[in-house]
Amino acid sequence: MKSGEKTVLIDTVKRPYFEYFLKNINEVCDPEEIDYFITNHVEMDHSGSFPLIIKHLPNAELIASERGVDVLRAHFHHEVGDDIFNKIRAVKEGDILDIGNGKKFTFVPIPMIHWPDSMVSFMTDENGKNVLFSNDAFGQHYATSKRWDDENDLTEVFQEAEKYYANILLHLSGLIAKALPKVGALPIEVICTSHGVCWRSHIPEIIEKYTKWCKGEIEEKSVLIVYDSMWDSTKKIAETLTKEIKHRGIPVKRYKLTTADYSDVITEAMKAKAILIGSPTLNNGLYPTVAEYLSYQKGLKPMNKVGLAFGSYGWGGGAVKEIVELMKGAKIDVMEETIEIKFVPKPEDLDFKEIIDKLVEKMG
Ligand code: FEO
Repeated sequence: MKSGEKTVLIDTVKRPYFEYFLKNINEVCDPEEIDYFITNHVEMDHSGSFPLIIKHLPNAELIASERGVDVLRAHFHHEVGDDIFNKIRAVKEGDILDIGNGKKFTFVPIPMIHWPDSMVSFMTDENGKNVLFSNDAFGQHYATSKRWDDENDLTEVFQEAEKYYANILLHLSGLIAKALPKVGALPIEVICTSHGVCWRSHIPEIIEKYTKWCKGEIEEKSVLIVYDSMWDSTKKIAETLTKEIKHRGIPVKRYKLTTADYSDVITEAMKAKAILIGSPTLNNGLYPTVAEYLSYQKGLKPMNKVGLAFGSYGWGGGAVKEIVELMKGAKIDVMEETIEIKFVPKPEDLDFKEIIDKLVEKMG
């Protein structure tokens, strides 16, 4: 802090890490010198330490979005006196905070990146860099001692940003498409995210990625096969489908749900054009791992997909019908034709040329 300049704290950390957070602040300044404390978003990874930190900030004015004040109150009413919430400055779009020496903050709400309360704080500096404190937006669930995009393996950083988008933001894409142009229009030179690496060298690229992801743009017409298997019959179908699709030169990835991580699978689902889901029938319904994945996928709603359901059964079917219904619930354009095989597939059961022809046609 230079003479005449105010000191600003932005966001906190998950509560178990408060001790480290406070230690880090003390290495930079005495918390009593902090003039403003901005809460960009109230989810607990960012504001979990709110009730603890404010005890160390006797001279700070608290700032949050209008929705943020309500959400802070909803989370911490049992720990923090009502007078605190009544004193928080509720900022709205375009409000400016002058912190001296030519530095100003502008606040821009970005509802649903990631909650209705979310906002970004954009600091312009007449003599230096324009910094966007973006909170969840453009972040990753990625821990590295190297703070900047260009210090890390860039492929890995973009993969982590993509995985974050697929698992946290995908179902909010329509709202993100509305909020993103406001952020993209700012003359940003640095993006400080609240988790993951910060961006200084690849800002246009990450904004372009968000623009594509929120529109559901598909870069490559690929196929994702997701399945589980009890006695290897559904596995045989999945393997044969993989060969048939590969044979046509179409990229295909296959995940078995017993061993795959859903967060990886949904990331691939966001990128693929076709999603093929297979399950054995268990107790007239879905195999539990497939039911769990379909429920996760239904919530996240990957866009612009075509689908195909397959599976095996013994005495009575049921799983394939449920896959079709749950894919429809996720707005996937699922094929009317399905693959259902009783007990162990015979070689002639595994001829999928015709159905794959139809799938490829549907993929466009
Ligand atoms: Fe919406 Fe990083 O929390």
